[in-house]
Amino acid sequence: SNMAAPVPISPEELEELREAFAKIDVDNNGFISKDELTGLFRAANLPLPGYRVREIVQELTKTSDQLTFDEFTHIVHGLKSTEVAKTFRKAINKKEGICNVAGTSEQSGTQHSYSEEEKVAFVNWINKALEKDADCKHILPMDPNTNELFTGMGDGIVLCKMINLSVPDTIDERTINKKKLTPFTIQENLNLALNSASAIGCHVVNIGAEDLKEGRQHLVLGLLWQVIKIGLFADIELSKNEALVALLRDGESLEDLMKLSPEELLLRWANYHLEEAGCGKINNFSSDIKDSKAYYNLLNQVSPKGDEEGVPPIAIDMSGIREKEDLKRAECMLEQAERLGCRQFVMPTDVVRGNPKLNVAFVANLFNKYPALKKPENQDIDWSSIEGETREERTFRNWMNSLGVNPRVNHLYADIDDALVIFQLYEKIKVPVDWDKVNKPPYPKLGSNMKKLENCNYAVELGKKEAKFSLVGIAGQDLNAGNRTLTLALLWQLMRRYTLNILEELGDGQKVNDDTIVGWVNDTLREAGKPTISSFKVTPPPNATSVTMVTLEVSDLTRMFYSLSMIIRFNKNNIII
Ligand SMILES: *[C@@H]1O[C@H](CO)[C@@H](O)[C@H](O)[C@H]1NC(C)=O
Ligand SMILES: *[C@@H]1O[C@H](CO)[C@@H](O)[C@H](O)[C@H]1NC(C)=O
Ligand SMILES: *[C@@H]1O[C@H](CO)[C@@H](O)[C@H](O)[C@H]1NC(C)=O
Ligand SMILES: *[C@@H]1O[C@H](CO)[C@@H](O)[C@H](O)[C@H]1NC(C)=O
Ligand SMILES: *[C@@H]1O[C@H](CO)[C@@H](O)[C@H](O)[C@H]1NC(C)=O
Repeated sequence: SNMAAPVPISPEELEELREAFAKIDVDNNGFISKDELTGLFRAANLPLPGYRVREIVQELTKTSDQLTFDEFTHIVHGLKSTEVAKTFRKAINKKEGICNVAGTSEQSGTQHSYSEEEKVAFVNWINKALEKDADCKHILPMDPNTNELFTGMGDGIVLCKMINLSVPDTIDERTINKKKLTPFTIQENLNLALNSASAIGCHVVNIGAEDLKEGRQHLVLGLLWQVIKIGLFADIELSKNEALVALLRDGESLEDLMKLSPEELLLRWANYHLEEAGCGKINNFSSDIKDSKAYYNLLNQVSPKGDEEGVPPIAIDMSGIREKEDLKRAECMLEQAERLGCRQFVMPTDVVRGNPKLNVAFVANLFNKYPALKKPENQDIDWSSIEGETREERTFRNWMNSLGVNPRVNHLYADIDDALVIFQLYEKIKVPVDWDKVNKPPYPKLGSNMKKLENCNYAVELGKKEAKFSLVGIAGQDLNAGNRTLTLALLWQLMRRYTLNILEELGDGQKVNDDTIVGWVNDTLREAGKPTISSFKVTPPPNATSVTMVTLEVSDLTRMFYSLSMIIRFNKNNIII
């Protein structure tokens, strides 16, 4: 079924390809020329005779002389298993700045690469974020020029702290083992970190405590990036920051704005300020920011002007914008960012190369510190439609994201209105999806909702006929239009089935139902000397003082199921299935 997956290139892979592209495209003109390709193979110092290099370059540029990013993506992604593609990948990985390491699948000889600049950026970020945390003194500060980052994650403490920083209150201070660590308590910390990472919506499939303990570089970096990104993006959302309404364009409704992803909102925000400054728009945080000019203008727009009480003005020195060399201009720009306390994530070379990941992080951090937006007054806005998501909705969203659905779900209802994510969830619970019946994006401009609705109808049909869910009164239209109650009814059954499947797998196929789980909860409570429960739908006595499980509210049912499956997954196997 992988062949027919709706979106074959994951955002992570696309990001990696962008980085690789930027590194090969030495003159930054947006194309990879034959010379640049030849240069790549030479620099990589592969044991290849000259004629082979020429042949490979010929093969890669068979259809056009210069590779655009799309062609590059197509080739690298499409020729995955051919010898040419392998050599190409090897050359990319050997290129300076991308380190090559052996990963988890050593037996199969797979090589994993990680980026040195990411490592440096994350080390600096973590050092600063946990600077004052007494529990991290044994690890921090880490030296960005060594591999301390990878060994530093090994006892799970820093990782737990970073997760809790990204989404406050995810981890209770008391549950982290900090003193006299043993292999057992370290394992507990790492399981806690993985469990919590998954609970905040990190995709943690194929990573286990062992990988963290042994500091497997690409896995550690991948997890850290997700944790950091979730924290950076946490407040880039209308319900958290009403001033974002200032980014509404003519003819748009609040709902349109709410549907934008954090990345899209950031781009809007940057362009809003660039427009105010009378500058041209940018389309991305990679090629379009390489010359630092947009950044200069953005810094100048958002820097404090002294009109807020207690915030002294900081005037940006714009003289560096006239610097002739990109690299020098980037350094001058970052010196100004530093004056705002926002020199984070990027080095001058990351700006000039247009590293998309690190540049998004740089901009997100700038947004968080200096949004410089005012909530427009006397505008006709129906604020009642801005509702924060409920805990239940967040649980569902994080659950989907932890399973790595593509695209990532930022807004529960809007992002599943074409049911593509639902189909992926069906596959996770082993309900076969006929992908030929599924409409895939990009949808035509005219009639796009019709295509989405067809998908939703098929999703409901699968639920009724194949999954045997109880979906009385639910139609495709309810999913498509985002009817809360009815959408949640389907999601709840998906998550419940998923959880029961996992428990059955762990129990060697033994049938599992709600009673089994209540029984397990009962046993656990009894062992702890706490009162037992008869079902999940307990109404806690008003004076209850016992453990969380007993004080469950009915709406916590979903969270309960989910947590339970996570606890069992991590503790039984120490690796996620
Ligand atoms: C997690 O965050 C909350 C709220 O910021 C804080 O009270 C708590 O001490 C933090 N726990 C850890 C383990 O850092
Ligand atoms: C960024 O946007 C510009 C147009 O403004 C485009 O030419 C360029 O290809 C884009 N770069 C990437 C990496 O998408
Ligand atoms: C969602 O569906 C239920 C059941 O059909 C209905 O009562 C409710 O009004 C719908 N909600 C919206 C917002 O349409
Ligand atoms: C759990 O305990 C309650 C109260 O002791 C009991 O009524 C119920 O039958 C138990 N449920 C299961 C599934 O063991
Ligand atoms: C809670 O209240 C009940 C009756 O109202 C009483 O029997 C019980 O002892 C109380 N529990 C605590 C912990 O105060």
